[in-house]
Amino acid sequence: MIKNHKVPVGIDAMAFAGPAAFLSLEDLASARNVDPAKYHIGLGQRKMSIASPCEDTVTLAAGAGKKALDQFNIDPASIGTLIVGTETGIDHSKPVAVYVHELLGLDQNCRTFETKHACLGGTAGLTTSMDWIASGRAAGKKALVIAADIASYGARSAGEPTQGAGAVAMVISDSPRLLDIHTQHIGDYTKQVMDFWRPLYARHPIVDGHFSINCYLEALTQARQVALSSESDPPNLAACLYHVPFVKMAQKAHQRELELALGRTLDLNSSQDNDFFTESYGRLTAPFLTLNADVGNIYTGSLFLSLIDLLRQSTSAWHGQNVSLFSYGSGCGATWFMGQIAENASQYCEAIDPQQALDARLKMDVQTYEEWMALANDAPSKTTLVPQDFGLGAGLYYLGTRDHQRIYEWAD
Ligand code: HMG
Repeated sequence: MIKNHKVPVGIDAMAFAGPAAFLSLEDLASARNVDPAKYHIGLGQRKMSIASPCEDTVTLAAGAGKKALDQFNIDPASIGTLIVGTETGIDHSKPVAVYVHELLGLDQNCRTFETKHACLGGTAGLTTSMDWIASGRAAGKKALVIAADIASYGARSAGEPTQGAGAVAMVISDSPRLLDIHTQHIGDYTKQVMDFWRPLYARHPIVDGHFSINCYLEALTQARQVALSSESDPPNLAACLYHVPFVKMAQKAHQRELELALGRTLDLNSSQDNDFFTESYGRLTAPFLTLNADVGNIYTGSLFLSLIDLLRQSTSAWHGQNVSLFSYGSGCGATWFMGQIAENASQYCEAIDPQQALDARLKMDVQTYEEWMALANDAPSKTTLVPQDFGLGAGLYYLGTRDHQRIYEWAD
């Protein structure tokens, strides 16, 4: 039984923003001569959002940040810390966050920086913000944490069907309207491993895919153990959310989570264990993976996209229920933590739901996808990119560089 120790810090507002176009994995499977069942069932993915050369980590992060502030009526002047977690930054020294700071019109006395540890960067920003609030230094101000990335593995690589792009913005405060975070149940884990990395000279990561799955599961085992070391019984959970590089990974993670809770291995060939696993996964994890299957891996934001999926479905019966969250960043670092769905969180289902924007995405063909991928290589040296050339409507776009300075503009 989890001790219901309520700590007043957590997620007060959330929003997702993604690129305007998507590629269907059915079309990709056909172009790559792969059985579509491998992508749909084997990996659990349906579509992936693809960023045009005019959409980068800054435009995605600023788009999500603006939505979170607007839809939850938060005054930009109340933000005292801005952190952007990303592994696809746009400069070796200048943080994405400082562009976002300007684009959102935040206060000059705001502490602003970028965090990096592969997919863990957003969670690192979240826990750092929680510490900032708990220390008293926030003095009533809130933190804006944005997890933003463009996951790009390259054409014909094993990782190609697990690409995606998008950003999740979260406002962290001492009076959270969405999720109270249990500060006494956080477990961290770090181990230097070579499962996935991207050298400074490389456009795409180098991946030892199957090894990375094992590293992820080992990190889950270790981080969860630390988080729950003070508990004698497994916690009563209404949902178990995980970092989602692809949906099947969350399924593997949930099996490990159950095995840790039970203290034994599950034999999915036995009908008893299989029924037990299927019921638990179908109730606690699978319902909250629809957005991830539709968007793809967004690296730092993937876990939080699953949380948005849960919150958009919440009802008053869920208020006060516990949720576990596992964040993994290759290389590797991990955090297992717990939250409690806030009183009245279900009031914000509509504000938080990105479905309408996802349904409005442009469906692209494989040829256009490959052209965009090739163009993205050249984008930094181009002086002018025209959003309309990529079929883009109103929004914030990257237009190329002038005197080595990146140019951003809102298009009507
Ligand atoms: P692969 O090696 O081409 O695929 O790429 P596979 O042969 O392992 O097949 C995948 C699954 O599809 C298997 O299921 C197959 O059985 C099944 P499983 O055995 O795992 O349950 N399958 C089929 N199912 C139905 N019908 C079929 C069929 N064919 C096969 N016809 C791999 C898979 C994950 C290695 C690749 O996509 C990859 O390298 N991805 C990138 C790395 C990754 O996502 N790793 C996950 C853990 S690390 C992480 O999460 C961190 C990360 O987000 C980065 C960061 O932190 O920054 C990646």
